[in-house]
Amino acid sequence: MQNQLRSIKSALIFGQLSEVGFNKILKEKYPNSKKIILTDDTVAEHWLEFIITEFDELKGAEIIQIPSGEENKVIEICTSVWEALSQYEISRNDIIINLGGGVICDMGGFIASCFKRGVRFINIPTTLLAQVDASVGGKTAIDLGEYKNQIGLFSEPEYVFIDTHFLSTLPTEQLYSGYAEMIKHGLIFDKNYWNELKQLDVSDYQNVLPYITTSVNLKKTIIASDYFEKNQRKKLNFGHTIGHAIEGYFLVKQKPLLHGFAVAYGMMAESFISLKKNLINKEDFEDINLFLKKIYGSLVLNDNDQIEIIRILRNDKKNDQQKTLFTLLDGIGTARINQEVNIELIGQSLMMLSDN
Ligand SMILES: NC(=O)c1ccc[n+]([C@@H]2O[C@H](COP(=O)([O-])OP(=O)(O)OC[C@H]3O[C@@H](n4cnc5c(N)ncnc54)[C@H](O)[C@@H]3O)[C@@H](O)[C@H]2O)c1
Repeated sequence: MQNQLRSIKSALIFGQLSEVGFNKILKEKYPNSKKIILTDDTVAEHWLEFIITEFDELKGAEIIQIPSGEENKVIEICTSVWEALSQYEISRNDIIINLGGGVICDMGGFIASCFKRGVRFINIPTTLLAQVDASVGGKTAIDLGEYKNQIGLFSEPEYVFIDTHFLSTLPTEQLYSGYAEMIKHGLIFDKNYWNELKQLDVSDYQNVLPYITTSVNLKKTIIASDYFEKNQRKKLNFGHTIGHAIEGYFLVKQKPLLHGFAVAYGMMAESFISLKKNLINKEDFEDINLFLKKIYGSLVLNDNDQIEIIRILRNDKKNDQQKTLFTLLDGIGTARINQEVNIELIGQSLMMLSDN
């Protein structure tokens, strides 16, 4: 029951920070709170000066800056941030502002939620991927070696400010990375959205604005029916069972893939499995596979790569009672959760990724 009653509590605010009353909210909601900005080196280089000079309430903010990249979404970095929070004498009355991509939003939410049993936090996502997906929905986590998001909890920011102005400094490949999660939203939930997205030139961030709202709203609708991922929310895992295993494998090999690229390979492989299980027809499979391959290319995996990826996948958090369970497509625009898939078929789907 608790599952059905819970929906997203964060206030999701779309628009330029200066136009949506960001400073006023900080002033009125957190008048006597210390403000801490958690960010990474790359985001700091582009946006830190702007944020601390533009908004009066952040002029005296404490800054905690960590190295950029998924390889830093680990407990050692959390410990160093907790030590800094302790030195700054941060209490539950204070407010942490996560300024960055999915890594900062995921890890910053986790750090804030564990520190002194929960400090309030705000997300300001600065990548497309974080704006359409990672900053919304209350999942916070860090990685454990090759296993993605193994340590974490459900905890929501008080506000999420989605300001596309931040995307102006984002490299094109990062826009494509975010695009993969948007494509996932279309494939699992809305065939018209999938068809619209195929026409979108995502390399110019200004084209993307209307689609961010659609993706966030689709995600919100799914979560409203199943906050704690007992059933419907699992649909959002399409592409992620294989995608996370691929991402984790290349992460520990020190050849990290962008999250959205790994998810795109995961979606290709899981569409292939959907085809082999007669859940989608050949025409739909080719529509998906050719489109994704055109953008994200092929992924050549040798025998050892495949064995290791399958090993990681079988230990993935989505497995229930030792079974390898997948979310598969049930036609374009619909998904089917808790589908068991045998190892042989997973192996075939990984081999298919090498095809041109
Ligand atoms: N919690 C969720 O529901 C959820 C959903 C999807 C993904 N995720 C997680 O999100 C993470 C991936 O997020 P991501 O792709 O944003 O990665 P990221 O946070 O590593 O950002 C990608 C890169 O872009 C840089 N960057 C960020 N904003 C920038 C800007 N405005 N201009 C220039 N550079 C900028 C970062 O420094 C980093 O180098 C993964 O860890 C994934 O597991 C979480």
